[in-house]
Amino acid sequence: MRGVILAGGAGTRLRPLTEITNKHLLPVYDKPMILYPLNTLLKAGITDILIVTGKESAGDFMKLLGSGHDLGCRLTYRLQDESGGIAQALSLAEDFAGSSKFAVILGDNIIDEDVGGAIRAFDAGKDEAVVFLKAVPDANRFGVAEVSGEKIVSIIEKPAKPKSNYAVIGLYLYSPSVFSVIRSLKPSARGEYEITDVNNHYVKADKLGFHLLKGDWTDAGTFESLYRASTIARKSKQV
Ligand code: DAU
Repeated sequence: MRGVILAGGAGTRLRPLTEITNKHLLPVYDKPMILYPLNTLLKAGITDILIVTGKESAGDFMKLLGSGHDLGCRLTYRLQDESGGIAQALSLAEDFAGSSKFAVILGDNIIDEDVGGAIRAFDAGKDEAVVFLKAVPDANRFGVAEVSGEKIVSIIEKPAKPKSNYAVIGLYLYSPSVFSVIRSLKPSARGEYEITDVNNHYVKADKLGFHLLKGDWTDAGTFESLYRASTIARKSKQV
């Protein structure tokens, strides 16, 4: 399977750090942030990887990661001209994904678990899409899944009153049908093409699977979560 890392966006919540560089190049403990989602894919056995990022820092990503040869992978780069949302960034992966199922990870997600088994199960299984859920104390910051038995019945983006404590983390598995789903989307109230709208399409079609993450997880898009990302990375390194 191929993998996609979405590393565009403006990183507004981390200003002034992101005035001078891309969020995903900021340090998380002892490495630039982008290396964590990259390692999550590599550990899962995915070595053909597309990085989507903005034009301001694209050269810096190439300077850091090169062709991927030294990391044991093959990297392809695509530019997202404007921060039109996660689903819009994902639409740029259509040619790269071709007719195969693939994995998508947000460049600011730090996942301390080997997700290779879940990814291989998706590749061999019938689900059209799979999301990963993590129980968190501050679900209102994320896409939140309402789960009934073995099924997700709805996902609400940043709800004021979350119906559960299950955050939908930034790791998604899709079949190529996702690109026609993205084409059918309208921008949200915040003017972005939302990944939650994509996932709700699969909820309605009864084609969305999910996995509960047991290991530590955080995003790193705010000062508090960036700090937490470093503590998770440090702890994981010391185990
Ligand atoms: O971290 C998980 C959460 O990520 C999910 O629970 C939410 O459902 C999902 O919408 C997203 O929420 P955020 O508000 O945290 O997303 P943010 O705008 O910070 O973007 C997350 C990453 O997506 C960012 O690090 C890079 C990528 N991105 C984002 C935008 C808006 C792009 O590549 N291009 C974009 O235009």
